[in-house]
Amino acid sequence: MEQISKDKLPRHIAIIMDGNGRWAEKRSLNRIAGHRTGIKKAKDVIRSCRELGVQVLTLYAFSTENWKRPEIEIKALMTLLKRFLRAEGKEMIQNNIRLNTIGNINDLPTDVAEVLKEVMLKSKNNTGMVLNAALSYSGRNDIIQAVKKIAGHVQQGKITATQINEEVFSRYLFTSGLPDPDLLIRTSGELRISNFLLWQMAYTEIYVTDVLWPDFTKKDLIDAIKDYQRRERRFGLTQHQIKTGSSST
Ligand code: FPP
Repeated sequence: MEQISKDKLPRHIAIIMDGNGRWAEKRSLNRIAGHRTGIKKAKDVIRSCRELGVQVLTLYAFSTENWKRPEIEIKALMTLLKRFLRAEGKEMIQNNIRLNTIGNINDLPTDVAEVLKEVMLKSKNNTGMVLNAALSYSGRNDIIQAVKKIAGHVQQGKITATQINEEVFSRYLFTSGLPDPDLLIRTSGELRISNFLLWQMAYTEIYVTDVLWPDFTKKDLIDAIKDYQRRERRFGLTQHQIKTGSSST
């Protein structure tokens, strides 16, 4: 496998793991079989990102909209998630991975939330990589909950309205303390953001592949990173400014 350059490695990769259902339907299996294989692929990607030296990996595991799915599918996803946490928790701790979550964790069944909290607590001092699981997450909800917290702090006099800027606002989001994603990977070909990290993805490079998530391999991950490394990130500046390192000309 062709190697990737280590000096332009994305610090933070976010993934929309889409296509589990279609993968299963293509094989005349039920959707749960797709999720089961999807979890295996999530494990592989976590391991690969850790090996490559990625600092933060955010996985969109369950959106607030996903609560509208059939109850049987939600139940199966929650069972799979709990099993994943039980089995992988130990490995995460050994591999120096810190588990973090974004979203409304209290919406999850109590037993799942408990295992989550336990792994988060046990891994809290790990420094190798952050595995950031988006669970019952919605980008709009993230912004609203941040606004509510800020409004509360303004009311209590902890902060003044004039002090609110982008940096301050970011600290109120679920992703507080994490860098914004450099690269978003979306599988299964859909050209949508799907209410993911709306504020945080202002300058994220987007990579969409037709590969369905249960078919996603380390090679697909490397291809996405190589594609990212070929891009020129300008953050609103001109090409000349980027090349000369000057923002005034
Ligand atoms: C999208 O496929 C996938 C999901 C809604 C669930 C993804 C979750 C996992 C793979 C579990 C991993 C979780 C962790 C924390 C490691 P879909 O069902 O929308 O597929 P479709 O669009 O083909 O129907």
